[in-house]
Amino acid sequence: MYKSLVKPLLFQLDAERAHHVVFDNLRRAARVPGTKALLRKLYDFQHPGLAREVFGLKFPNPVGLAAGFDKNAVLTDELATLGFGFVEIGTVTPRPQPGNPAPRLFRLPRDEALVNRMGFNNDGAAAVAARLARRRDRQLIIGGNIGKNKDTPNEHAAADYVAGFEALAEVVDYFVVNVSSPNTPGLRQLQEKKPLIDLLQQVQARNLGRTVPRPLLLKIAPDLTDAQLDDILEIARETQLSGLVATNTTIERAGLTTDGAYVASLGAGGLSGRPLRARATEVIRYLHQKSDGGLPIIGSGGIHSAADALEKLAAGAALVQLYTGFIYEGPALVGRINKALVSG
Ligand SMILES: Cc1cc2nc3c(=O)[nH]c(=O)nc-3n(C[C@H](O)[C@H](O)[C@H](O)COP(=O)(O)O)c2cc1C
Repeated sequence: MYKSLVKPLLFQLDAERAHHVVFDNLRRAARVPGTKALLRKLYDFQHPGLAREVFGLKFPNPVGLAAGFDKNAVLTDELATLGFGFVEIGTVTPRPQPGNPAPRLFRLPRDEALVNRMGFNNDGAAAVAARLARRRDRQLIIGGNIGKNKDTPNEHAAADYVAGFEALAEVVDYFVVNVSSPNTPGLRQLQEKKPLIDLLQQVQARNLGRTVPRPLLLKIAPDLTDAQLDDILEIARETQLSGLVATNTTIERAGLTTDGAYVASLGAGGLSGRPLRARATEVIRYLHQKSDGGLPIIGSGGIHSAADALEKLAAGAALVQLYTGFIYEGPALVGRINKALVSG
């Protein structure tokens, strides 16, 4: 029904507007008694064989919603009904910020891709933490993806990540440090060895000082070289990370079917969806092999089918996440992947 009825209507709208329409309608519908139960019946496929224990957390299934869809944690109760094993909220910055001017989200339907330069539009860590504290569904595993404000210089970035961590520590189950978005000027420079070790050490120091530390992960770009990936693994060991999220969107535009002039006219941003699939899998495989499988990886990038998810898991991902595939395929994709996992 999604692909034949809902998607054609949504795809008539501007991409960001469609996002809000989906949000508002899911929220409104879920308030009608019985709707959540109906959504669960339709979409939430449960099976004991899907359970995974990763970095000390018990996931009911390995298919999650990637960061950026529910940045402000306004829809976690509703998303819980769609069969996700976990939802990553954010990226959240310490202070609220509007993000980049619109238009900032574009579809490339022929490539089943998106280009976005949202720029961490979000309500700020305090508001998001308060919202998560009020949520009803306590079963759903929530990841907290944290970043820095646009106007915070890189020299002070670590303080922003520490502030985001402190604000959310009681209300999320694991953390992701995001230094890989292409849409905050200079952010990806924080992936360099020295600033990254410093940043992660500061967050980890707070984390390990807690009675119950949270698993701390790092999300990386698909555009890193092998030497940079080697550095990431060394840094992960040195700062006692629990895992990696691989990968974020790419700044690469090679190999697209969509007209090059049109793609260029959209301007800067991160490309996600099908064209990212192969490179994201390659990064996962490299990290998995180089770490001898010792570091759990959440695989993200271009998962639009059960086969795509199985490919990521076979490459060494312990869990997977999707965003663009959810837009192109609809909520049934989650159950489709989980059913394929059960039937082997
Ligand atoms: C519109 C949009 C917004 C995103 N926002 C964030 C974000 O705030 N933080 C983040 O870590 N990743 C963000 N991402 C990246 C996704 O979480 C995901 O890693 C990436 O899109 C690759 O997966 P996909 O091909 O399934 O979309 C965003 C992606 C899209 C399409």
